[in-house]
Amino acid sequence: MANGMMKANVFHGVNDIRVEEVDRPRATVGTAVIRVTLTTICGTDLHILRGEYPVKPGLIIGHEPVGVIEELGDGITGYTVGDRVLVGAITPCGQCLGCLSGHLSQCGSGQGYKAAGGWQFGNTIHGAQAEYLLVPNAQANLAKIPDDLTDEQVVLLADIASTGFSGAESAGVRIGDCVVVFAQGPIGLCATAGAKLMGASLVIGVDADAKRLEMSSRMGADVTLNIREVDVVHEVMRLTGGVDVAIEALGTQETFESCLRCLRPGGTLSSLGVYSGKLQLPYDAFAAGLGDHRIVTTLCPGGKERMRRLMNMVRSRRFDPTPLLTHWFPLDDTVAAYKLFAERQDGVLKVAIRP
Ligand SMILES: NC(=O)c1ccc[n+]([C@@H]2O[C@H](COP(=O)([O-])OP(=O)(O)OC[C@H]3O[C@@H](n4cnc5c(N)ncnc54)[C@H](O)[C@@H]3O)[C@@H](O)[C@H]2O)c1
Ligand SMILES: [Zn+2]
Ligand SMILES: [Zn+2]
Repeated sequence: MANGMMKANVFHGVNDIRVEEVDRPRATVGTAVIRVTLTTICGTDLHILRGEYPVKPGLIIGHEPVGVIEELGDGITGYTVGDRVLVGAITPCGQCLGCLSGHLSQCGSGQGYKAAGGWQFGNTIHGAQAEYLLVPNAQANLAKIPDDLTDEQVVLLADIASTGFSGAESAGVRIGDCVVVFAQGPIGLCATAGAKLMGASLVIGVDADAKRLEMSSRMGADVTLNIREVDVVHEVMRLTGGVDVAIEALGTQETFESCLRCLRPGGTLSSLGVYSGKLQLPYDAFAAGLGDHRIVTTLCPGGKERMRRLMNMVRSRRFDPTPLLTHWFPLDDTVAAYKLFAERQDGVLKVAIRP
């Protein structure tokens, strides 16, 4: 587009997003600009749109970018303009208190040290639902895409696969574990795949939607349970006597509590959902605090090394994210894409947006 402008999806307020012309970013020291070739919409973008997760009006949203390097700022080495790259949803700097303490997603670079600081795109800086994207800390965050992988094969690694897998990794799933995953949206489906990859002997996928439960089996669930048909906690206890790991992939009181109620003593609740309001712990659901339970939370791991590993999982055919990409839209139709995604029309799982 002429005159240094570009099209982007801008958040204006609750339930008000618009695709409009904005200034195109320019690379500065330590950053890069990519021309976005594929992106998508996350469940968290819906929380933003509904006002459940606040961001500033005027912000370009979206945090799942695949693109081609357009400009490299000073200080970035080992890349050339034209390289195809995947950038994680979370962009750690690799140098701050959070990063050097091993908590890359809690990177404090530029934002002070506070929770979720590593999540910048479409949160604290402009995001990926745009023709061009400024990538901060580019040296740590541009992951070159091998020639034998398509954009469609890697776009879901930026967030949902990285997040979903981390649900199983943070829980420390061991070979032979029994794992239940509450909610089989895109995140939960990847958590199911992750639990299987980590060596679980039984993975139970839980949802209310029969189509998503079908996909759950395809992603590796051995058993699927529909909350509309069975008392899920009772059924999980009957099948396992209490699971080693329960993964929460929705962000509600109900699913959080069900996860607790499914755990064996000493088991781990691994939480991925984004919550709003208040979360309560009924004493009987966690053995009054005496059950040696662990509760862990994880923000999507990012950075180029994480992306390299995830791309290797796709290359080696251990994991195929492409069945989760169900609909395609041009950037101009982003508002329609949000509507379809939010209303879960037409069996949608993830929508691809092509700027
Ligand atoms: N931790 C992170 O870094 C991170 C990253 C991305 C997204 N998220 C969060 O993860 C959550 C899930 O995201 P998503 O995109 O998969 O969401 P989604 O809305 O697409 O899927 C949610 C699923 O939950 C199912 N469901 C509804 N009620 C249920 C119940 N009571 N029991 C079981 N299943 C039920 C729905 O049928 C649906 O399939 C969101 O809160 C999102 O914000 C977290
Ligand atoms: Zn996300
Ligand atoms: Zn950092």
